[in-house]
Amino acid sequence: MYLTGLFLNNFRNYNTLELNLNKNLNLFIGNNAQGKTNILEAIYLLSTGNSHRTNITSEMINWNQEKAYVKGEVSRKERNFSIELLIENRGKKAKVNSNSLKKINELLGYLNTIIFSPEDLELVKGSPAGRRKFINLEISQVNSYYRHNLKEYNKVLKQRNNLLKDIREKHSSQEMLGVWDQQLIDLGSKVILKRLETVEKLGILARLMHRKITDGSETLKLKYKSSLDLSNDLSLSEIKDKFDKKIKSFRQQEIDKGYSIVGPHRDDMLFEVNDINIRKYGSQGQQRTTALALKLAELEFMKSEIGEYPILLLDDVFSELDGKRCHYLLKVIKNKVQTFITSTKVNKELSKLDLNKSFYRIKKGTLTSI
Ligand SMILES: Nc1ncnc2c1ncn2[C@@H]1O[C@H](COP(=O)(O)OP(=O)(O)OP(=O)(O)O)[C@@H](O)[C@H]1O
Ligand SMILES: [Mg+2]
Repeated sequence: MYLTGLFLNNFRNYNTLELNLNKNLNLFIGNNAQGKTNILEAIYLLSTGNSHRTNITSEMINWNQEKAYVKGEVSRKERNFSIELLIENRGKKAKVNSNSLKKINELLGYLNTIIFSPEDLELVKGSPAGRRKFINLEISQVNSYYRHNLKEYNKVLKQRNNLLKDIREKHSSQEMLGVWDQQLIDLGSKVILKRLETVEKLGILARLMHRKITDGSETLKLKYKSSLDLSNDLSLSEIKDKFDKKIKSFRQQEIDKGYSIVGPHRDDMLFEVNDINIRKYGSQGQQRTTALALKLAELEFMKSEIGEYPILLLDDVFSELDGKRCHYLLKVIKNKVQTFITSTKVNKELSKLDLNKSFYRIKKGTLTSI
C-alpha cells in the first residue's frame, strides 16, 4: 500500500502543505527543528489515530490556530480511499472516504505503518511496557479480533483492580471475584495466545534479517516471557488452565496489593543474541542491530498477515546506522515498500541508490522539491 497524497493544514509548524508522494522513496532533508518529524507524525496519525510522540492532542495544532487538519490519499491493492483527521483541543475526529468514524481507534487497519526512529532502541533497552505497546500495536494493526479482545481485557482488568482494592479495604467480599476472574482468564488467554503466535513468527523473520546484517556471526532469538510461566505450543485451553491456577495461587498477594499481578498486562518480550540477554548485556551496536532486525521483521510480518507491505517511516535513522546496515536496510525496502526518510543531510548510501525517489528540502515548515 502507499500514500499518493498528503495534505496538512495548521498542523504543528505547517500552515498549508500539499504533497504528491512518490510510490517508492520520499526523502526530507533539513536542519534541526524545521518540521521533518512533524510530517512523519502526521502520517503516523493517519494510520493509528495517535501521535507517536505525544498524548496531548492540542500540541499538534499550530500555536496560532484553533484546529488542525490532516488528509491522506491511500492506494491499496483493491481500493483507494482518503483518510481525514480533524484535530481540536477537545479531541480528534476521523473520516474514511468522507464517512465519520465513531471512534478514533477505528482507524487502525486502514493505513498500516511501521515507524523507526532512534528512540526505538528503547524497545530493546527500555521497560516491558514499551515492548507490550509494540506487540499490541503490531497485532492490532492487522487483526481486529485481537483489538477487540485487548480492549475488553483492559476493561475487565480495571474493574477487577477496583474490586481487589475494595476487598483489601473490606468494602467487598472475595466471592465477587469469581466472575471477574473468569472474564480475565477468558480474554487474557486469547490475548496471550495471539501474542505467542506473533512473537514466534516475528522471531523467525527477525533472526533471518539479523543473520544477514551480522554476516551470520550472531543469532537473534525472540521469546515471549509471560507472567504465567508458559512454554510455547500451548492451546487456548491449556493457557486458560495455567492462568486459572496462577490466579488462585496469587489470591492473597493480589488482595494485599490491590491490583492484578498475573496476566498479559504483566508480560514481556525477551531478546537474546547468541543466548545472551541483549537488553542487559548487549553493546549499543548489538542493540541497534536487534532493533533494526525487529523493524524489518515487522515489514514481512505485516505483509504475510495482510498481503501487502505497510508504509515505512524512518526518522533520522541513518545517522545512527553504519554504512553496512544502511545498505542492507535500503536493499530490503527497495522498490517494494513506500518509505519516508528524514535526515539532516543526504546519506552516501542513499544518493548511490538507484531507485525512484523524490527529494524535498524543509525549512521552517516550507517544502521545496530538489
Ligand atoms: N504546535 C506547534 N505549532 C507551531 N510550531 C510547532 C508546533 N509544534 C512544534 N512546532 C515546531 O516544529 C519544529 C520541530 O519540528 P520537527 O520535530 O519536525 O523538527 P525536525 O525537523 O524533525 O528536527 P530534528 O532534526 O531536530 O529532529 C520546531 O521548530 C517547533 O518549534
Ligand atoms: Mg526530528
